[in-house]
Amino acid sequence: MMEEAVEKEYILNMHGNYSETVIDHARNPRNVGNIPNCDGFGQCSGECGDTIGIWLSVKNERITRATFWTDGCGATIACGSMITELVTGRPVAEAKKINRDTLLHALGGLPEDHVHCAALAADTLAEALQDYHELARFPWKKAYMK
Ligand code: FES
Repeated sequence: MMEEAVEKEYILNMHGNYSETVIDHARNPRNVGNIPNCDGFGQCSGECGDTIGIWLSVKNERITRATFWTDGCGATIACGSMITELVTGRPVAEAKKINRDTLLHALGGLPEDHVHCAALAADTLAEALQDYHELARFPWKKAYMK
């Protein structure tokens, strides 16, 4: 499914308004897919109708692996790719500080009409971290995860 998204012509035609970093991450997204039996999961949909999901593996309060999936635009793919790169290897407490602006900065900015893609990715990360805390408090809930 992701391959199809990456093939979309508009991604291949992304230029001008987008930084080199955004174009690179949109065309060659890192950390695509899910993590079976993950320690935290979040999913959000924006008003534009796009959805992004983020999966986390955590060991000793440190994020050891982070992955994402989206059906969204090229900018959202770049946001999912970059935000999972940013949190990998970080303590959970530090990952919580990553917000829309941290992500925009790491990506070299986004055009005004795509700033919401970074907000969506940051909200999804926050949800995955919240889920991590829930699962850590109530480990039996993991048994009910899809
Ligand atoms: Fe909606 Fe990118 S256009 S998340």
